[in-house]
Amino acid sequence: MNIILLGPPGAGKGTQARILETERGLTQLSTGDMLREAKDSGTEMGKMVAGVMARGELVTDEIVIGLIREKLAAGGSGFIFDGFPRTLAQADALGALLEEMNQTLDKVVELRVDDEALVARITARSTCGSCGEVYNDLTKPIPADGKCSNCGGTEFKRRADDNEESLKTRLMAYYKQTSPLIGYYYAKGNHAAVDGLGEIDAVKAEIAIALA
Ligand code: AP5
Ligand code: MG
Repeated sequence: MNIILLGPPGAGKGTQARILETERGLTQLSTGDMLREAKDSGTEMGKMVAGVMARGELVTDEIVIGLIREKLAAGGSGFIFDGFPRTLAQADALGALLEEMNQTLDKVVELRVDDEALVARITARSTCGSCGEVYNDLTKPIPADGKCSNCGGTEFKRRADDNEESLKTRLMAYYKQTSPLIGYYYAKGNHAAVDGLGEIDAVKAEIAIALA
């Protein structure tokens, strides 16, 4: 099964992708995580994208399509695309890549969350520095013993683009460049919208219904 999780910054794509990975044995492919890894390890590409990401703008199609192409070429099946595609050009490229591999796109799950909730979620987010588990000061706090519930790690990070200013740019990029994909996949017949405002488990249950 290949799934896209589509939604604005803070909609819960990463949170739900990790759940799907654990519970269904799928592989999460997050272009945001891949780009942050490149930035943290100081590669040439990482240096090139750091400023663009911190401002909340989109990285070029060429770079992110290249990252996805590489992951798909490594083989396997059953992917959750998290934060990709984000433009119509990326969506066309993904369609072509899957076709080359004789694979299909089963569902595009759009997580719908209102903009005010997004600001609150993003400004309260942190992630485990070792395994990437996603936390939230308000809705999913780091355990009281200071250890990640998934891996026991003790270092937690906040993202450089998780501030109100960058979030405005990220939201604008979503509405201008990514939201046309809702119509694109609706027309292709594999779009499903899910209410992303509920608690994490409630959203998980709605996604399960959409994928049934
Ligand atoms: P990316 O890393 O993809 O960020 P994003 O799309 O802005 O989305 P987020 O990761 O911020 O949110 P999320 O939906 O994963 O929410 P999460 O589960 O963490 O991209 C970052 C940047 O990289 C882009 O701006 C761009 O520069 C570049 N980039 C990446 N991909 C690209 C592409 N394809 N093309 C071009 N550029 C690209 O949840 C958020 C918070 O809410 C957490 O604290 C979580 O605990 C909490 N939460 C989650 N679900 C719930 C719930 N149901 N109830 C309460 N709280 C919840
Ligand atoms: Mg994410």
